[in-house]
Amino acid sequence: MRKKIVAGNWKMNKNLNEALELGATLSQALKNNAISLQAHQEVVICPPYIYLLKLKDFFRVLGEKQIQVGAQNCHFKDAGAYTGEISASMLKSLEIDTVILGHSERRTYFKEDNALLKAKLDHALANGLRVIFCCGETLAIRETKEHFNFVAQQLQESVFHLSAEQMAQVVIAYEPIWAIGTGVTAAPEQAEEIHAHIRQLLAKQYDATLADNTTILYGGSCKPTNADALFSQPNVDGGLIGGAALKADSFVGIIEHLR
Ligand code: PGA
Repeated sequence: MRKKIVAGNWKMNKNLNEALELGATLSQALKNNAISLQAHQEVVICPPYIYLLKLKDFFRVLGEKQIQVGAQNCHFKDAGAYTGEISASMLKSLEIDTVILGHSERRTYFKEDNALLKAKLDHALANGLRVIFCCGETLAIRETKEHFNFVAQQLQESVFHLSAEQMAQVVIAYEPIWAIGTGVTAAPEQAEEIHAHIRQLLAKQYDATLADNTTILYGGSCKPTNADALFSQPNVDGGLIGGAALKADSFVGIIEHLR
């Protein structure tokens, strides 16, 4: 059965105390709401790098086993003179298992293109990380109705060179840029049609079983009030959550709709 995931992308938010407080409240809220994840369900939070180890240790001390800790990015080389960067092998050495790559903010502000993301993806997988790989179009692209082709090209140029075995370590996150942090969410039908398109691309490139087993998340202004409608779509396997992941009650309110 394919994994259903709610992942929180904290982006560049929270100081250390706030990060630990959010971790503690989140853990408590899961208990208060009697949320017990099933074997095919996962919750991951991706805080800034500098809190990864602290949060992991903190959850260990709390006995919190339901929340995994992942990273927001990594470099495409193993080591070297790349000031300010973090490699996949460093993340792995912290026992971090998941990394987000290709987020639209990385693509826009840090000029990460499909070729660079291909290199990052290869590097992350070579180091045993699971990758949440983001794709998605701008409003201008959607208005020209080119979004299906645009997303296909992003995947073609960064992801589809992978072997089926490697692909099993990739989660795809469809995140329309016009919905990220804007309060505008893709309608469930809009999310479903492009998720179904991505699954068809996977079936064509690999096979139907791989396509069926691949987790495809939706991201972009997902909140407790729209999570159920989105997650109930047959091809939407959970969400990558930004703003609503910064408050325990809204994040847990989304987790409650995991199928
Ligand atoms: P948002 O961000 O939920 O704040 O729209 C989603 C994301 O960037 O992953």
